[in-house]
Amino acid sequence: MNTTPEIHPQWVHQSLLDLRNTLRVHELRYYVLDAPTLPDAEYDRLFAQLQDLEARCPDLITPDSPTQRVGGQPLQAFAQVHHAVSMLSIRTDTQAIAAHHFDARIRRELGFGDDAPSVLFVAEPKFDGLAMSLRYENGSLVCAATRGDGETGEDVTHNIRTIRQIPLRLPSNVPPVLEVRGEVYMRRDDFDALNERQRRRIAGGDHGERLFANPRNAAAGAVRQLDPAVAAQRPLSFFAYGLGQVTPVDQGGPAFVSHYALLQTLKSWGFPVSDWVQTALGATGLLAYYQAIGLQRDRLGFDIDGVVYKVDSLEQQRLLGFVSREPRWAVAHKFAAQEMLTTVLAIDVQVGRTGRLTPVARLTPVQVGGVTVTNATLHNEAEVLRKDIRLGDTVIVRRAGDVIPELVSVLVDHRTGSPDVFVMPHQCPACGSAAIRLDGEVDHRCTGGLFCSAQRKQAVLHFAGRRAVEIEGLGDKLVDQLVDTGLVACLPDLYRLTQADLSRLDRMAEKSAQNLLDALQKSKQTTLARFVFGLGILHVGISTAKALARHFSTLEAIMAASTEQLLQVTDIGPVVALSVRTFFDQAHNREVVHQLRAAGIVWADGLPATATHVVPALPLSGKTLVLTGTLPSLTRNAARTLIEAAGGKVTDSVSPKTDYVVAGTEAGSKLDRAQTLGITVIDEALLRTLLGDFDLVRTDVQ
Ligand code: IVH
Repeated sequence: MNTTPEIHPQWVHQSLLDLRNTLRVHELRYYVLDAPTLPDAEYDRLFAQLQDLEARCPDLITPDSPTQRVGGQPLQAFAQVHHAVSMLSIRTDTQAIAAHHFDARIRRELGFGDDAPSVLFVAEPKFDGLAMSLRYENGSLVCAATRGDGETGEDVTHNIRTIRQIPLRLPSNVPPVLEVRGEVYMRRDDFDALNERQRRRIAGGDHGERLFANPRNAAAGAVRQLDPAVAAQRPLSFFAYGLGQVTPVDQGGPAFVSHYALLQTLKSWGFPVSDWVQTALGATGLLAYYQAIGLQRDRLGFDIDGVVYKVDSLEQQRLLGFVSREPRWAVAHKFAAQEMLTTVLAIDVQVGRTGRLTPVARLTPVQVGGVTVTNATLHNEAEVLRKDIRLGDTVIVRRAGDVIPELVSVLVDHRTGSPDVFVMPHQCPACGSAAIRLDGEVDHRCTGGLFCSAQRKQAVLHFAGRRAVEIEGLGDKLVDQLVDTGLVACLPDLYRLTQADLSRLDRMAEKSAQNLLDALQKSKQTTLARFVFGLGILHVGISTAKALARHFSTLEAIMAASTEQLLQVTDIGPVVALSVRTFFDQAHNREVVHQLRAAGIVWADGLPATATHVVPALPLSGKTLVLTGTLPSLTRNAARTLIEAAGGKVTDSVSPKTDYVVAGTEAGSKLDRAQTLGITVIDEALLRTLLGDFDLVRTDVQ
């Protein structure tokens, strides 16, 4: 029996438009605003509905449909693209006093006297990726091009379309021609996950695959893929930092006055703009920014190789102009070198949380990127042999954003004599148990399990780590003592520690003991993802833990999930699914979880503690909207009634708490304020999409 109902063309057309808009709004929320409101499964269902409609009516497929991100055949070669406005580079300064030099030069060139006010700058991260120019015509992405030589780049539209953070279609209020410039990069967690997948493929015998040296290389490789399907598997991100060609003001284009406001407008149009883009007053402001971001550098989630200082006023930028191919109004203040030479003093073997034995190079201390490096992980025996690292070798070490330094390569020409080739020990250096390498694995593992104190220590350190439940002050020295004295034999023991226990430890004053107890107390307010990550399940990194939390919402659901159910989670394959299932099948692991929960660990991210399924909230619940201007078909009152029925609140003035400003024609100062504050501006069509999706959710979830 044919169950496909007859469908009316007009209905299909409208449904297609509605579904696309709904999906776009949710892509924006999920990928750009980091504030998803729809369960993943619901998004997937709407996406499948759109695919189904488009399959039935292929004539109605448009290139800006969310289904068309990965499309087309692999290319033979890249086409050349001429940049209508050249893509410039920026002058670089690595000196500590770069901010003062820049400020002094700008003041001089603008003719500012000593008593003139401080210059207003914008300070931004210098993202370590690839420059990209995105050209939109009438709101649709028509071309994405690399910088190339600044005049001519390569057309990489097919790959850039796969980046979910990059809108394929913009709101209706954007200028007819709009080139947005920014950086394509790979987040560190995406890079780690990608390399983890590569490692598994290589271990599985796929010799065509390789590991990527750093996120920048991985991003560059993905952008220059000829096959968009391959590029789509390499998760890329984007930050906007400027404009190329734009419809001129006299032809109805936007009149920006400052760089900061311009970026906030881009944000309101759906482009990701880093929260680290900030205004800074004078040299002091710039220096404070440089120092602040330097301290946070390892926690940003992405690599930066310095900061960029820009004059904020576009009028001042125009006055300053250019010299050769560089703007006089910007400078890149780069961080100190990230690669240095040193020598290998010893190769030790460390035991990890899962019993993995990791060779570690002990190095002659060397300053790399402002940090003294004394160790570098060598990963496994195969890696040491591949890089041919031997005692006494001169080597290049690199700190790539990560805290963990990496040994890049050996300068073989500097080798004196012929030291022995490295061999992995056959016994665990911590507990003496047999160390074995299973067939098909690259790693050697200690077979001692919880008998091995090194494994127990690592499990505690992992649980206490910054990305897990974060127990401030619980470092390796303290964990060594806690495990060696027998105070902590398993994770829940941490929460049983008392002042009296701690006072027995070396160098533990009453104050430090209290601090640790406070930190333990604080760590009980965590998130489901952090907790799952903290358990240290083999192959479950933070991104997998997040995916599990998002998909299942409760710990009980994760613990009860079958391997088939686990395989439904995005990015989880059979190896990880099996590992999660096996972990929770062990009674002692379930007991550890039970005792930790009994100690008072709760989720502070709003996820239900025990609910078994997610009920989608009203589409605008918790959202505050402001109406401005005349909407094409809704009166103020009608719009307000609809918004309130969908759970939203309408207020009269725009504040940082406003979620959306709904703007119609002749919108006034509220629109300007929204743009200054970087609040998402939507039109009536998008508002209807938000409300319409309410109807979809309500009527379709049965
Ligand atoms: S502005 C006219 N801002 O650095 C100025 N560039 O030499 C145009 N970059 O390849 C660039 N972060 O890809 C600017 N916040 C930022 C940046 C940035 C990274 C890169 C850019 C370019 C190089 C400039």
